[in-house]
Amino acid sequence: MEKKHFQSSFDYTFFNLKLDTTWLGRDFTLVDEIDSSNSFLMNSDSQIKANGAVLMAEKQLAGKGRFDRTWFSSKFENLTFSILINDEELLSLDPIVFSFGAIVAVSKALESQYQVKNGIKWPNDLLSDGKKICGVLSERTFIGDRIEKLVIGIGLNVNQTNFQGEYSIQPTSVAKEINSSVSREKLLAEILNEFEELISRSEGTTSLVIKEWKQRCPYLGDSIGIKQNENTEYGIFADVEEDGTLVLRQKDKLLKFNYGDVSLIL
Ligand code: BTN
Repeated sequence: MEKKHFQSSFDYTFFNLKLDTTWLGRDFTLVDEIDSSNSFLMNSDSQIKANGAVLMAEKQLAGKGRFDRTWFSSKFENLTFSILINDEELLSLDPIVFSFGAIVAVSKALESQYQVKNGIKWPNDLLSDGKKICGVLSERTFIGDRIEKLVIGIGLNVNQTNFQGEYSIQPTSVAKEINSSVSREKLLAEILNEFEELISRSEGTTSLVIKEWKQRCPYLGDSIGIKQNENTEYGIFADVEEDGTLVLRQKDKLLKFNYGDVSLIL
């Protein structure tokens, strides 16, 4: 794998100038094409070892989404990257801090930098005007029952305006929402700045991340469907607990989910 020896419009110097972190993104690799940045970091042969390392790909040939879906993203236009977490102290935190925290960081960065209106859909999708702008795929490896590393993969549609392919939710991008293309360097730096700050402010518990997550989720109290395997349950999206569990209220009972695909009933 090469470290940026190809023609890319991504200006590393500008990105670095905007990056205000201590450890997150300080090891940064940009590649032209790769199967999947998540799969690369998950592989035990990966040469990228530093905690907080970011691997960004201009093009993924087999980008992965949740539920074995494909993540489509056109070359040079978006942000498709994965973050490696392998520091012992960070791994002792609840993984929810990272998987839910990542989408909170993207949500904040989009709002503060470009005033993009957005809302989080459980567990870690970001919608803008009901369309999907960002998704997070969080994966981990174990040694015995100990987590060896976490890989947090983020796909954010930035400057792409033409979408073709099979999408489970209609896609959109920052450029489509604000009618102007934006700096991927500045946006990526701000996401990492927000993410590191959130992790540090969370002080070892999930409370802050879940609180900020809920503040950015406009669908609490709404009618939703949640699909697990072939079964869909319908009800009111009542709450998200401190461990990320979704609580669904039905007429006479509460149901709890720790995975599933949520659909909004409009
Ligand atoms: C989803 O919405 O289902 C999650 C999408 C996650 C896509 C990102 S792009 C970078 C990283 N590498 C992958 O193969 N997937 C994630």
